[in-house]
Amino acid sequence: MRGPAATRWYKLVQARLAEMERLQPGRGAMGAAFWDSRAKRFASRMSVATATTDPFYRRLRRATGRRSAVLDVGAGPGRFTLALAPHVATVTAVDPSGRMLDICRRQARTTGLENVTCICGTWEETEVAPAHVAFSSYVLPLVADAPRFLRKLDATATERALLYLGAHSADAIMDPLWRHFHGTPRKPGPTYLDAVDVLRELGFDPTVEVVEVPTRVRFKTVADAAKDYRDQLCLPDTPEIRRELRGLLGDWLILRSDGLGAPLKTVPAAILSWRPGAGVPAGTS
Ligand SMILES: C[S@@+](CC[C@H](N)C(=O)[O-])C[C@H]1O[C@@H](n2cnc3c(N)ncnc32)[C@H](O)[C@@H]1O
Repeated sequence: MRGPAATRWYKLVQARLAEMERLQPGRGAMGAAFWDSRAKRFASRMSVATATTDPFYRRLRRATGRRSAVLDVGAGPGRFTLALAPHVATVTAVDPSGRMLDICRRQARTTGLENVTCICGTWEETEVAPAHVAFSSYVLPLVADAPRFLRKLDATATERALLYLGAHSADAIMDPLWRHFHGTPRKPGPTYLDAVDVLRELGFDPTVEVVEVPTRVRFKTVADAAKDYRDQLCLPDTPEIRRELRGLLGDWLILRSDGLGAPLKTVPAAILSWRPGAGVPAGTS
């Protein structure tokens, strides 16, 4: 039985995925194939260099030490895994996307990191050993069954569990563009406050820290940006759409010293963190 917070979470995620599926059949699954096809682009933006200046990395360093075994759930190409590895005993990176993990493995090899293990699979289906610190960054809003995901994270961590999620509505920023093409507002996803609500419903007691993260995505040209926004806006790849997007983005993007970027310089993100082991048993919340 899901409690009210978990039910709300489930409905928000399912409605959003259903909308994506309606606009681009196959996309609503948001499975390994989806992330495989975006792995290279994602890795080029979310590098280890960007991780070390991220407030979440600083929080992870405070939670870990030389002897820590660390687990990164939904690691992607491993920006946090690879940044942490030189400072801890081991890092296990779990992700269903083989391509994302290939990038992580390759980079671990090139930089001589021998304490990184990559496990391919969803968190729900993967078996891993307990870790002192288990965290998941920008994954939970993709997962409809949040209690299952969170209980497992809690059960695997022995000292600290952490979640990193956006604390702003990317949809609100994109809303004028979304409505321009689709005519209605986008189905909203769950927010970090919904995550706090679910955690409390499960009996966990998270501390919440809201941090500012620099927006890092830059484009060389408006045409590059149009490709990316077409994907984010779930639009078909036609010459008309490309032309229209180029026109709109030309007025909307800001030229910065390192390229074209979205109007905001930073966006807020939330770090939710708790001591594991305090949850109520499944079936009672
Ligand atoms: C937005 S990326 C975040 C990557 C990385 N954590 C970061 O912050 O750079 C989301 C990642 O979550 C992974 N993912 C999606 N569903 C998952 C699940 N059920 N279990 C584990 N990973 C999942 C995807 O394959 C993808 O690599």
